[in-house]
Amino acid sequence: MSKTVDPASPQPEGAPAEAPRSRPGGRPTGEPSMAREPDYQTGRPTKVAIVGTGMVGSTFAYTLLLSGIASEIVLVDANHERAEGEAMDLNHAVPFAHPTKICAGDYADCQGAAITVIAAGAGQRPGETRLELVRRNAAIFGQIVPKVAEANPEGIIVVATNPVDVLTYVTLDLAGLPANRVFGSGTILDTARFRYMLSEHLGVDPRSVHAYIIGEHGDSEVPVWSLANVAGMRLPTFCAENGIALGPDTMERIFRQTRDAAYEIISRKGATYYAVAAGLMRIAEAILRDQNTVLSISSLITDYYGIDDVCLSLPTVVSRRGIERVLRLDLSPHEARGVRKSADVLRQTIDSLKEPPGN
Ligand SMILES: NC(=O)c1ccc[n+]([C@@H]2O[C@H](COP(=O)([O-])OP(=O)(O)OC[C@H]3O[C@@H](n4cnc5c(N)ncnc54)[C@H](O)[C@@H]3O)[C@@H](O)[C@H]2O)c1
Repeated sequence: MSKTVDPASPQPEGAPAEAPRSRPGGRPTGEPSMAREPDYQTGRPTKVAIVGTGMVGSTFAYTLLLSGIASEIVLVDANHERAEGEAMDLNHAVPFAHPTKICAGDYADCQGAAITVIAAGAGQRPGETRLELVRRNAAIFGQIVPKVAEANPEGIIVVATNPVDVLTYVTLDLAGLPANRVFGSGTILDTARFRYMLSEHLGVDPRSVHAYIIGEHGDSEVPVWSLANVAGMRLPTFCAENGIALGPDTMERIFRQTRDAAYEIISRKGATYYAVAAGLMRIAEAILRDQNTVLSISSLITDYYGIDDVCLSLPTVVSRRGIERVLRLDLSPHEARGVRKSADVLRQTIDSLKEPPGN
């Protein structure tokens, strides 16, 4: 069978059939780079690696591409074909977006990435307990994290896989990187949901609602009502001034809708990925653009209301260096009890990982 020739790209006579396509840097296109690709304006690397290119990882890649803030996106997945397919599909969006190099790669290709986001993991099997799932995902992280850290000891690792707080702790242990360069997406999503639900009730743009969900990304998370505000006005004052009712029942409903949103979405469409991808994008932007943005992410907490040596979320200043500092909110006694309980729940799960299976 004769070889089909694409008339749109005629080969000059005598040219090799598969001449390597190269760009000014001399590297063939379609392959991950091994060196940090600096942003042409800032001179900083803007390569982002994503491990786990399922719904969350690939939606994050798409969000990142549309944002234009990454020069290169490397996709790594145990299912390499899936990563390749995602890279191909994303590359075909480049002409509508921004010049970005997107390719499927291996762990070694995380080298030079400013950030590696880990969204790889197993889903819950029917009848499987949460703890069994934690064990399986911790085992998966045992395969992933040392390879990422070895390939890229200078980079930042952001964990998205659930249970995100426990896996952030596991990642810290496995990576051996400084604690300011390992964190989880934590309650960034829950905080966004809370601000959205509040904005619907208060009738203002969610970006003008300043309120945080702290603690575990999960059932024990804590809404910080005592510090929530619009334009610096605490909610009781804002609501009184604007004739809005905000009684205990409404507050309970808003928090319940926030906390249980994932269950509601999963029961309808099977997974959540748009909002978490947008949250991961916000984290990436804070890092790549060195913004010192306050985000509720999960990191190693010490000496806070009696909490020590667990990863959970508090508002945190995020910059090029990763975590600049964790903001130690002054909580009401009720909120402080809530976050301590959240830490206890997480500590129990971390401890149970150390026990042999079946205990
Ligand atoms: N943190 C948050 O706010 C948040 C929100 C939504 C989902 N999540 C979590 O994100 C994770 C991913 O969700 P999803 O919907 O994308 O799942 P998914 O099943 O669509 O994708 C998971 C991907 O991980 C890959 N994978 C599995 N084992 C691997 C390994 N050893 N090495 C490399 N890749 C591997 C799979 O091949 C798959 O492509 C889940 O744990 C989910 O609970 C977190």
